[in-house]
Amino acid sequence: VRAADAQKAVIDVKRVGKKIGIVPTMGALHDGHLSLVEASVSECDYTVVTIFVNPIQFGPHEDLTKYPRDLDKDHRSLERCGVDLVFAPTPDEIYAPRHSTYVSPPSVADRLEGVLRPGHFQGVATIVLKLFNIIPADVAYFGQKDYQQSRVVVDMVADLNLPISIQVCPTLREHDGLAMSSRNVYLSPHERQRATGLSEALNRAAGMFRDGEGRTRIIIEEMRKRLYAAGVRKIEYVEIVDPVTLEPLDEATPFSIALIAAYVGKTRLIDNMRLG
Ligand code: PAF
Repeated sequence: VRAADAQKAVIDVKRVGKKIGIVPTMGALHDGHLSLVEASVSECDYTVVTIFVNPIQFGPHEDLTKYPRDLDKDHRSLERCGVDLVFAPTPDEIYAPRHSTYVSPPSVADRLEGVLRPGHFQGVATIVLKLFNIIPADVAYFGQKDYQQSRVVVDMVADLNLPISIQVCPTLREHDGLAMSSRNVYLSPHERQRATGLSEALNRAAGMFRDGEGRTRIIIEEMRKRLYAAGVRKIEYVEIVDPVTLEPLDEATPFSIALIAAYVGKTRLIDNMRLG
C-alpha cells in the first residue's frame, strides 16, 4: 500500500475507537521483531508493521546495500502473527527528490553510537517521526537491543509532544546468549561463536555488580578482558551509563546500563544489559 492509503486506512480504524499499534522495522525479521509484533497484537486492536531499510540512517561506508532483505518471508511471518497492515514503502516514496527536512535528534543521541555513526540518529529520528505521521498509532514498540535508539525516540516524542506512547520490549537472545539481530546472518560459524563474547561480558558485568562491585572502572576492565578472551578484539566502546541521560558513571546502580559495540570480523554488533 502507498503512504496515503495506509494513512487513510489507519485514520478510518482510529475513528471507530480502535487502539493502533505500530512496530517500525527494517525487515529481515527474526523472533526479536516478532516478540514486538506479538506485544502489539495482544495489546492493541490493530497492528501495523513497517518495513523500510532507511537509507539516511546508514553512513557512507556502512552496510546499506548488503543489509539483508526478504520481504516475502517477512510477509509470511507477519501474516501468521495476525498483523493487520504491513507498510513497506520504497525509498522514493519516503524521500521525494526535493526532501530536505530532517529532525535534529535529542541530546541523548550525542554519545556512544552518535559519536561513531555521525548522522545515524538524525536519520532514525527523521524516519520514525515520518512513520508516526503516516501511521498515527497510539503505541509504538521498540526493542531494548537498540537501547540508545529507544532513548532517542522516547525523548523526541516528549520534546515534540507527539501523541504516541513508546513501549520498549526486552532483548531476545539465542540459546548461547547472542542478542538477536538481522545483522547476525553476516557472521561465519567461527565469528558466530566469538560473537557470544558480547553477552558473556554483559552477564559478567551484571554478576560482578550482584556480588558487590560497584566501581564501573573495575567492571569495564573485566568486560574488556572477557571480550578479548572470546576473540572480540575490535572494541568500539564498553560503557556503563545512566539509563536516562546515557552519561558514563563512576559508581553503578541497579538501573545502570552496560553497553558494548564491537566488530566481529567485518560485522559491527551492539548489545546492552541492565546491571541490577
Ligand atoms: O531499529 C530499526 O530497525 C530502525 O532503526 C528503525 C527504528 C526501524 C528506523 O529505521
